[in-house]
Amino acid sequence: MSAPRKIFVTTALPYANGPFHVGHIMEYIQADIWVRFQRMQGHEVHFVGADDAHGAPIMLAAEKAGKTPEAFVAEIAAGRKQYLDGFHIRFDHWHSTHSAENTQLSQDIYRRLSKAGLIYKKPVEQFYDPVKGMFLADRYIKGECPKCGAKDQYGDACENCSSVYSPTDLINPYSTLSGAAPVRKSSEHYFFKLSDEACVAFLRDWIDQPQRLQPQVANKAREWLDGEGDKALGDWDISRDAPYFGIEIPDAPGKYFYVWLDAPIGYLASFKAYCAKAGIDFEGFLADETTEQVHFIGKDIIYFHTLFWPAMLKYAGPFYKVPTNVFVHGFINVSGEKMSKSRGTGISPLRYLDVGMNPEWLRYYIAAKLNAAVEDLDFNPEDFIARVNSDLVGKYINIASRCAPFLRNKFDGRLLPMDGAAAADSQSLLHELRSPAAEIAGLFDSREYGKALRHIMALADAVNQYVDENKPWEIAKRPDAASQQRLHVVCSVAINAFRLLTLYLKPVMPNLAAGVEQFLNIPALAWPDAYAFLEGGHQINAYKHLMTRVDPKQLDALFDLPAAPEPKAKKTVTTPAAPPAPAPAPAAADATISIDDFAKVDLRVALIANAEAVEGADKLVKLTLDLGTETRTVFAGIKSAYAPEQLKGRHTVMVANLAPRKMRFGISQGMVLAASSDSPAAPGEGPGIFLLSPDSGALPGMKVK
Ligand code: MSP
Ligand code: ZN
Repeated sequence: MSAPRKIFVTTALPYANGPFHVGHIMEYIQADIWVRFQRMQGHEVHFVGADDAHGAPIMLAAEKAGKTPEAFVAEIAAGRKQYLDGFHIRFDHWHSTHSAENTQLSQDIYRRLSKAGLIYKKPVEQFYDPVKGMFLADRYIKGECPKCGAKDQYGDACENCSSVYSPTDLINPYSTLSGAAPVRKSSEHYFFKLSDEACVAFLRDWIDQPQRLQPQVANKAREWLDGEGDKALGDWDISRDAPYFGIEIPDAPGKYFYVWLDAPIGYLASFKAYCAKAGIDFEGFLADETTEQVHFIGKDIIYFHTLFWPAMLKYAGPFYKVPTNVFVHGFINVSGEKMSKSRGTGISPLRYLDVGMNPEWLRYYIAAKLNAAVEDLDFNPEDFIARVNSDLVGKYINIASRCAPFLRNKFDGRLLPMDGAAAADSQSLLHELRSPAAEIAGLFDSREYGKALRHIMALADAVNQYVDENKPWEIAKRPDAASQQRLHVVCSVAINAFRLLTLYLKPVMPNLAAGVEQFLNIPALAWPDAYAFLEGGHQINAYKHLMTRVDPKQLDALFDLPAAPEPKAKKTVTTPAAPPAPAPAPAAADATISIDDFAKVDLRVALIANAEAVEGADKLVKLTLDLGTETRTVFAGIKSAYAPEQLKGRHTVMVANLAPRKMRFGISQGMVLAASSDSPAAPGEGPGIFLLSPDSGALPGMKVK
């Protein structure tokens, strides 16, 4: 093998204004697999992350929470570990952009850029909130649309008529922070001269470097560089005026670096803090020509990482190093929907862990769907169950559970050598398994994880076929010596095969691999181990179950679907309401509500246009509800009382303005009303469920009030 590579790896720094969502976790899983794979190859890899703490949104969020920004971001930071540990994401270090290292590095880079003649000042006129005493980014200004007059529109586009304009065009603009009318005010801003000829030439060259960027990403970057007219590459405004939560610009009182200047420098700050801890020469490591600097990011922040960031590093000069690679991934969606907290879609990573789901199922699933292109991927619950249960457990884990017990019970856990009696089987099966080791390595290295896993699962198929053909459970019943020898051969070969599959899967499922290493009684597997077999006489430990199957109920729990409908009050809503939110004010059971409270619920007559059973859910019926002007899909827990055929063509009443709820089977867009009680409908039966219907004549879409 060639000399070990030296690689510095990062993932994008998440804003410190909220907990991780599954998009973050997916990015970390992608990078963590790559890092673990490179380490298995014997390369020297340092993998760091950090919180992106600065900027106006975080400053304002902290203020709203009644905290200092420092305390606010510290609280967010304290919550990170449980996610990272929970999903076996092993950063060497986690830091913050609000740190001494980042201040020092940001100011150093700025001074170097300034010295290189790439920084200049010019006045910029902007909206200013005279009450709040701060300049306003566009998103903090609203007003009336200049085209259609719609109220409360943002400064860039009208949500009502879709016209696009600039904030200065708004009629009666107001600050969303104080409500005050903003005034125009000028102040001095600092700019980075990105449009400098030499800088543009450098970027062109950097982008064109073969193997540096994915083709799609390089094209995007070139497009920006080649922009003309109002699309032309402008200089970059890197300063913000106080009050701002950020890093002070040297010799510029009241001026701070714009958050996107110090954010990527946070990569280096985290690495520097880690180097101090680990006794690594920070500057020396980066200055080394052979060191690779690799950034994993999502598709929404390509601009910053392929233009500003390399240019900053280039003109800061050595020891700084321009990125070797920027690896871009797409977004993760859930059941084909963009994740959105307000619509109740998405997956909470903590809830995933809380309901007892195995983190390595998710690592496996995401890896199986990832490739090297910038493509979105979908978390589909049914697909998740199928891949984990039939591929991972059914094909891979199964090999060990079928063969190991014979070895322990009959042969004291000792293996036969792979020459001698096992030579022929080993030659055919194990040869097939280890010859693609380099090819599989290539797929991991190029982030084609989906292809790698398909290849590995095809090998698992071959092993299962070997076991099926040889039927150890039948040979085991024959007492003659030749049969017992044959049993020993088959199980020894299968366990060697299982070890090879484990090695290939280890970057994706490190914890499982550690369990297998313990069970096989072997040291930690590294890639070159693919070229050796377990020695004759090697003794394995007793097999204990390595991984369970996904229980579909766990996905119900993940998506908040209660295990069974719990009819309680006289009027029961039959699909689950929003996740159990902390009750705002403890209201007595019989407390009255105002007519306004009631009016908030949009009850409508609905025609059940279609009703069908839901595969895998014994309690649910999938209803297609016709509301006159639109149709809705609602999953209702009424199967115990109604066969789907009985429901079709009936009218009922639905809550039409309930926030959609993501369930394992799809999105439920409302609920139907039914009555039930706690007492059984008839002796020995469960409580009955009685769907509400309007009197005849009511039409779909009519309001119930
Ligand atoms: N703070 C900036 C990054 C600064 S890097 C110097 C930021 N933060 S973020 O929290 O919004 O996003 C962090 C990373 O998560 C980004 O790479 C982003 O692309 C990624 N993702 C955000 N939503 C995602 C999905 N739905 N799916 C996959 N990745 C997603 O941007
Ligand atoms: Zn408009």
